[in-house]
Amino acid sequence: MREVLAFASGVLRDPANVGAVLPASRWLARAIAREVLRTRCQMVIEIGAGTGAVTRAILAQGYPRDQLFALERDPQFVRWLRQNLPAVGVVKACASEVDRVVRPGIPTTIVSSLPFKSMPQAEAQRCASALAAALCGSPGSRLVQYSYGFGGLPPFAATAELRWAKAGVVLRNVPPATVWTLQRPLRPRTPRIAAAGTR
Ligand SMILES: C[S@@+](CC[C@H](N)C(=O)[O-])C[C@H]1O[C@@H](n2cnc3c(N)ncnc32)[C@H](O)[C@@H]1O
Repeated sequence: MREVLAFASGVLRDPANVGAVLPASRWLARAIAREVLRTRCQMVIEIGAGTGAVTRAILAQGYPRDQLFALERDPQFVRWLRQNLPAVGVVKACASEVDRVVRPGIPTTIVSSLPFKSMPQAEAQRCASALAAALCGSPGSRLVQYSYGFGGLPPFAATAELRWAKAGVVLRNVPPATVWTLQRPLRPRTPRIAAAGTR
């Protein structure tokens, strides 16, 4: 209940920044945490951690807290996270500054619930470019992103090196949400020019 009130006060302060009416449900948070832990990674960075619904689900699945970082730009959510999840490294920053936290070369899973579809376009582009650069700078990294609805279009247009995939739809959330992943394809395609040269 305390968490819902803290989240609601964030919505009242800046509805466009939060882009949601409620924190992620326990079913959505668990689905995201399971997707995060499906592959091995040395670091998890959660972007837009809010009141920590997803952060707690990742910890509950046994992910080491010293490898988990939460990035949030709303100062009151930052204070809430530091008080309620003291063992997690909480960084007050915009998603477009994710390079302050990533360690180049370390395979990292970035978890995001940024409201890309309701953010101002220029800000969405800055954040999307920063996330794509972080993924490309550390091979083996990927993004797990949720967005509301049944997953018609991916949350943002990815660069040519990265591919979106739909990991699943969670109905038990208000509203229902789709979990997406974004990463480099596992097996790079054979360059066409080389294939032509072998004939
Ligand atoms: C939909 S809420 C999700 C909160 C939480 N992860 C959850 O699932 O309950 C989006 C969160 O992203 C944060 N946010 C929005 N734009 C941001 C930005 N550019 N950089 C960092 N955080 C941002 C908001 O403050 C809010 O906490």
